[in-house]
Amino acid sequence: MISQENINVAVKRLFDEIRFTREPEGLYDPLRYMIAIGGKRIRPKLCLTTYGLFKDSFAPEVLEPAAGLEVFHTFTLIHDDMMDKSPLRRGRETVWVKWNADTAILSGDVMCIDSYRRMARAPREVLPEVLGLFSQTAAEVCEGQQLDMEFETMPTVPMDRYMKMIGLKTAVLIACAAKMGALIAGAPAEDCEALYEYGYKLGLAFQVADDYLDAYGDKKVFGKPIGGDILNGKKSWLTVRLTEKLPDRSILDDAFALPAGEEKIAIVKGLYDRFDIPAEAQAEILRFSDEAMDAVAAFSPARRALLKDFAGQLIGRVK
Ligand code: IPE
Ligand code: IPE
Ligand code: MG
Ligand code: MG
Ligand code: MG
Repeated sequence: MISQENINVAVKRLFDEIRFTREPEGLYDPLRYMIAIGGKRIRPKLCLTTYGLFKDSFAPEVLEPAAGLEVFHTFTLIHDDMMDKSPLRRGRETVWVKWNADTAILSGDVMCIDSYRRMARAPREVLPEVLGLFSQTAAEVCEGQQLDMEFETMPTVPMDRYMKMIGLKTAVLIACAAKMGALIAGAPAEDCEALYEYGYKLGLAFQVADDYLDAYGDKKVFGKPIGGDILNGKKSWLTVRLTEKLPDRSILDDAFALPAGEEKIAIVKGLYDRFDIPAEAQAEILRFSDEAMDAVAAFSPARRALLKDFAGQLIGRVK
């Protein structure tokens, strides 16, 4: 097995050493910019964590696909920031603001292609499975993003549809990362499936936490504008749960009809506070992380300890 400390070192080295040397600069500079700023890199970390449950050292056969997961994720962020009209990412200007929309589209596209190139470095014995899993996941992320956009103009979204949407836009990629490490390590099929389920549940917890931080985070730490979801009319976990609890939904409609600005954010947050939504969101995050651990109940105590550690890092997120 490989310790979390060694995984962190490996991920740091992987991205310190990664080079995108192609031209034209106009196409590759945004890619270099986003990879250099770096985020939490949870998807490659998770892939290496599950690989490390079954192996004792890293090889390029897993490092390249792990990097591919991060490149793919970063591509989705570049396009997501355009779709969400967000000016800030990882504490820096977003690509569509710093360059322009055309550049954000094309640099994003080339990153998606780059991620496939890295996936293709997986060992030959598992390559069809790895590529199948990745392609399925990539399509599902697009499906989730489409639902996220469609929900903006719907008056209400029931909790089960919200869960399906975040399952697609966020959880499947985290699930894919968890399964991929195990697949590449040659783990038994039932362990790969259990890890997919573990990653999926963690992904749900992760997106509920993201929705919470979008309203209650610290902009400097979170690296994204606070209140963006409220201004975009997003159906976040907070709004969906509030709608379930409100005796009269016109209260929420009136708040969301206010002109965009700090006052609107404050009024909507006031409603969340009044109905105890932040505490419920925290409880939901813990519930999903417990369910993630239930998915790997049959694993050995040593393996479970590593997975529990990883889950703890995610649910304790402040950024
Ligand atoms: C942001 O992902 C998009 C969501 C799925 C919520 P991360 O929170 O992993 O972003 P970075 O990579 O750390 O910036
Ligand atoms: C992110 O959802 C999902 C993907 C990027 C696929 P959000 O729109 O909530 O992500 P952030 O908050 O901008 O990071
Ligand atoms: Mg979005
Ligand atoms: Mg967004
Ligand atoms: Mg968000």
